[in-house]
Amino acid sequence: MMYRDNPLKDMPWAEFQQLSITEKAAHFQRNGRPYHALVAQQFDRPSLERHCALATKIRRIAKTRGGLLFLQDLLREKRAMLYFSQPSTRTFLSFHAASQLVGLQLANVRDTTTSSEIKGESQEDSVRTFSSYFDMIIMRHPEGGFAERIAWLLANTSRPVPVINAGSGKDQHPSQALLDIYTLQRHFEERGGIDGKTIVFVGDLARGRTVRSLAMLLALYRNMSMVFVAPPELQIGKDILGALSAAGVQFAVTDNFEQVMPAADAIYMTRIQDEWDQPGESGKRDTSRFHLRAEHLTWLKGDAAILHPLPRRAEIAPEIDADPRALYWRQVRNGMWIRAALILSIFERDAEADRYYRDLTS
Ligand code: NCD
Repeated sequence: MMYRDNPLKDMPWAEFQQLSITEKAAHFQRNGRPYHALVAQQFDRPSLERHCALATKIRRIAKTRGGLLFLQDLLREKRAMLYFSQPSTRTFLSFHAASQLVGLQLANVRDTTTSSEIKGESQEDSVRTFSSYFDMIIMRHPEGGFAERIAWLLANTSRPVPVINAGSGKDQHPSQALLDIYTLQRHFEERGGIDGKTIVFVGDLARGRTVRSLAMLLALYRNMSMVFVAPPELQIGKDILGALSAAGVQFAVTDNFEQVMPAADAIYMTRIQDEWDQPGESGKRDTSRFHLRAEHLTWLKGDAAILHPLPRRAEIAPEIDADPRALYWRQVRNGMWIRAALILSIFERDAEADRYYRDLTS
């Protein structure tokens, strides 16, 4: 019983750290669903499908005033803290809007220099203090694994609360991967679904956490092909390629973007994450070969999907925005629905939304 309610409790930290990522993932689940949402490896295909279906129901329920009021009542008694100690506006606002949609009351910490951390308090102590006032923590942090550590730490206090990873270092960004899956699923709905598609990832694949998380989710689909397009020094990590091999995914690694464009069912563009560069390093790199320009549009399949987690720089020419294949603005909107779905599911309040939706459509 204890294990189901609080799966990380009583597991020594040293022992926990030795586990593989899939072993760890099992400890973030409760009652067969994510309790903490920390890594992409927590999701299996049925759970992706459940979250996407719930996001669609929420999206439709939210079309009327009655529906919006119903949603806002679901978690009215709960409070969440957005703890974002790394620059973010879009993911922050997306979680903010998603939380408001399902009625969570919110507070946020964004600039940790105004808190007692400046007095020498450890970040662990700060988060533990703040967590006393809340029922959920949604956190972004520059250090990979920090959200995981907080989840473990809180699990071993008298007041454990769920933790959602909203971006951890260069490592993982599971909620972004969920919204990417939701966007792809909607795009391919009438085209046989995501199974069997060729997904081309472009840009900074070494430090782009969105790509790392999304590749793991896409590996749950059948007959997938993935192509990783990047300068050699920014190529996708061996850990991800190893996991893809183990999952039977076909993949290729290249630095020739133009050559692979015609085969793509979806292109996932990313920004060079030069905030991780050594001083002076970024100026030396010419990444224009990894840009999608307007003249490339005729090279792409007529129904290809163009995605980007944003923020964009020069990777996608602004003229492309008007092309029906450009889905990045839709991704933003989808992010709000799927994050609301994730939050409801963590609090185990999704059945109420299912019921409301059934009554609405019967
Ligand atoms: C991404 C991130 O923070 O990893 N942004 C986001 O959350 N949408 C991508 C990026 O910063 O390039």
